[in-house]
Order: sequence, then structure tokens, then C-alpha cells
Amino acid sequence: MKNNIKKLDISEEYWSRAEKTIFSLVQLYDEGSGSHVRGSYPRFIKRGKHGHIWDMDGNEYIDYDMGLGPILLGYCYDPVDRAVMDQLGLGMEFSLVSPQEVEYAELVCEHIPCAEKVRFLKTGSSAAEAAVRVARAYTGKKHIIRGEYHGWHEWTIAAEGYRQGGILPEVRQYIHTCRYNDFDAFESIFEKNRGDVAAVIIEPLIIDEPQNNFLHNLLDFCHANGALLIFDEVVTGFRFDIGGAQKVLGLTPDLAAFGKAAANGMPLSFVTGPKEIMDAVDKDVYLFTTFGGERLSLAAGIAVIKELRDKAVNERIMAIGGRLKSETNKMAERLGVNISLRGYAPRLMFFFKDSGGNYDFNGKNIFLQECVKRGVFIGWTVFPCYTHTDQDVDYTLNVFEEAMKVYKNHADSLNAWKSLFTRR
Ligand SMILES: Cc1ncc(COP(=O)(O)O)c(C=O)c1O
Repeated sequence: MKNNIKKLDISEEYWSRAEKTIFSLVQLYDEGSGSHVRGSYPRFIKRGKHGHIWDMDGNEYIDYDMGLGPILLGYCYDPVDRAVMDQLGLGMEFSLVSPQEVEYAELVCEHIPCAEKVRFLKTGSSAAEAAVRVARAYTGKKHIIRGEYHGWHEWTIAAEGYRQGGILPEVRQYIHTCRYNDFDAFESIFEKNRGDVAAVIIEPLIIDEPQNNFLHNLLDFCHANGALLIFDEVVTGFRFDIGGAQKVLGLTPDLAAFGKAAANGMPLSFVTGPKEIMDAVDKDVYLFTTFGGERLSLAAGIAVIKELRDKAVNERIMAIGGRLKSETNKMAERLGVNISLRGYAPRLMFFFKDSGGNYDFNGKNIFLQECVKRGVFIGWTVFPCYTHTDQDVDYTLNVFEEAMKVYKNHADSLNAWKSLFTRR
């Protein structure tokens, strides 16, 4: 690969067509210009193979967006594609339970610590909502305390400060947001809504490590107060381990929601929990959907879990992410730029600080733009996949170095201007 991004004309042409017909334009909020610098990033991707993608104009990139998480093994990964093709010849959707549901559920129960009963859905949002519904039904309580993003459904998005159109205001009184590691905040919301908190739903591992036994304390605290702890494993599920982040942490939540990587890009998600909870609400909770047993996704999902079981997929992802993280951070230090790559190896995030210690959005855009121009495609999150090669990582690190140098020039000249204006 070379610095080969020449033109984005076809992409831009599709974009003007999209503006006429596609509501809100991007499929996921993160795909907007906030993470993909306008004019530098292609708007449309035509195809992918393993860790690489090609845009509509034929430019090739090493991709670390990975469909915003679902692509764990790589694009067009043979064993998964073959499973989908085999199933395609047999039919996609029928009116009875799919045998693939049983096979997938058995694998889930074998590997995921909290799993004894499984309900299949299609998106992370529905899996998270299903977990919340089960928790409310099981505890008979109303309030939910949530962490970061859990999808677009009303129960959770009502707690955000943007795009509140169509949300019933009364829903807001039952949903509360707390930051990861802020145990006091969780305690205080429990206190304010004493006896009426159904569940805490959080991502088990995000960027910062749990402090002061945060997750274990939270589980104990939930139980002491008659609430359930739900792990939103929509991103961490399968990416951190075949058994999810709960396996890595050695901490079993009451319920868990999985999505994204559950079928390496095919739409599949699920809610899972122990029989004691799931069976208790089985007759009360309505969780039925036409495509829950859709077979192409389940076939893909079974192939994914078998790959994770039989090959060192997670180890490889850890190694790639680990190398990217440590070498990038060393490089930033050596070049004297305030850039860091933080988080866990399977899910990393860039941070950029300006001279005042604030998040440097302009600098971030400059860095990303220099990367994408050189064929390295990065969004908010850096997701390594199983089929990123060592050469991909070498190339990426070289590009990071070049992009950091441009970033440094920008930061230095900005600081020079600032000091000029503040000098007396
Ligand atoms: C942690 C988490 N939960 C839930 C969701 C919602 O998943 P989906 O977009 O598949 O509905 C997301 C999506 O980014 C997520 O990151």
C-alpha cells in the first residue's frame, strides 16, 4: 500500500443522492462527520477483505472502524461466509424455531458465565432493552441506572441531552446516568429512589480500568438493594473473550446483552441470564420478533463462536491491539505530542490534548485526516481484528508517526500564535 488516496468523487456523488432520500444520513451517530473528517474521508465503502476496505473510488485502506465493532474476524472471513452460503441454499427464515438457535444458545451457555437461557434479537439496542425489561419484570421495580450509550430505545436515550424529539418526558424520571467508577453517584441514586431501582446496566470494560473494586462492589450493592446488575456486552462481547468481559473479569452479572460481534457483521444480538431469572419472567415478558430466528445470521454466529473456540482469535487481537497501543504511546512521547492511545487492546481510543489540557478536536481532525490520506481508516474507536496482519500494523505505525509529525507542526504553530497574543 502507498499514499494512494487520490479522489473521492464517486463517494461524494452518492452522498448528494443520499441527502435526498436517507433520513439523518448516517446509520450510526458515530459515522457522522464528528469522527470522519469531511472532505478527507470517503463517504461510502464498496467492499472489504480481512482488515482492509475499498471505497467507491477504488482507494484502499487498512480499517480500524470494523463496522463500528461487529467485524471481529475480518471482512469476508471464509469460515463465516461459507456458513452463510451453506445456509442460504437451505432457506433464511421459517415460522418455527431454528435448529441454529439451539446450537448457538448451547455454545453461548457453554462459554458465557451468566448464560443459561438465551433470547435472540437483531440489534444491541433491542438486547439492552430486553435485559432492562426482564430486570423490571423480575424485580417489580421501575428505576434504571445506566452507564454510557446503550442504544436508541426510549428507556435509555431519554437520558441524553440531544435528539429528544418523540421521547415521552415522563420516561426521564425512571432513567439515571452515572459515570464508570463513580460508585458514590450510584449509591446516591439508589438512595434517592430507595426500594425502586430495578437494575444497573453498564458496560463492564470501557477505557479506564475499574478502580477500588468498582464492579464487584457494584454487584454486591445491587444485590443488597434488591436490584440486578446487567452487563451491556454489546461491544465487549466476544471481542474481549469468547465468554465476554465477564469472563475476563471473573465477575458474573445477573443479565447480559450481546450484539455487534455476535455474528461478525450479520445482524444478531441476544439477551442472556440464569434460568432462575429468565424462567421467572418467561410468562410475563413479551420478547418476540419475526426475525429472531433468522438463519443466515445464526449460521454466521455459530461459525464465529467455533472460530473463537478453536483458534487463538482473542490472543491475536490482544497482541495486535497491545502492540498498537504501546508503540503509539512510546512514539507520541518520543515526538513530544500530547496524543495517547488508551483503553484495552481489543478496543482502543485516541485522546488529543491541547496546551490548555482540553480535548483537542481540531488536532484530532488533523491527525485522522493525515491517517486516512495515507490509507489508514480510523474513527472514534480503534478496533483490531483477527486478520489484521503484522504488515498492516507496521504500515499503520509508520502512518501514525507521519500524522503525529503533522499534528506537532500544527500544535507548535498554534502555541507560537498563542504566546504572541498573550505576550505583553
Ligand atoms: C455499549 C453499546 N450498547 C448498545 C449499543 C446499541 O447497539 P445497536 O446500534 O446495534 O442497536 C451500542 C452501539 O454502539 C453500544 O456501543
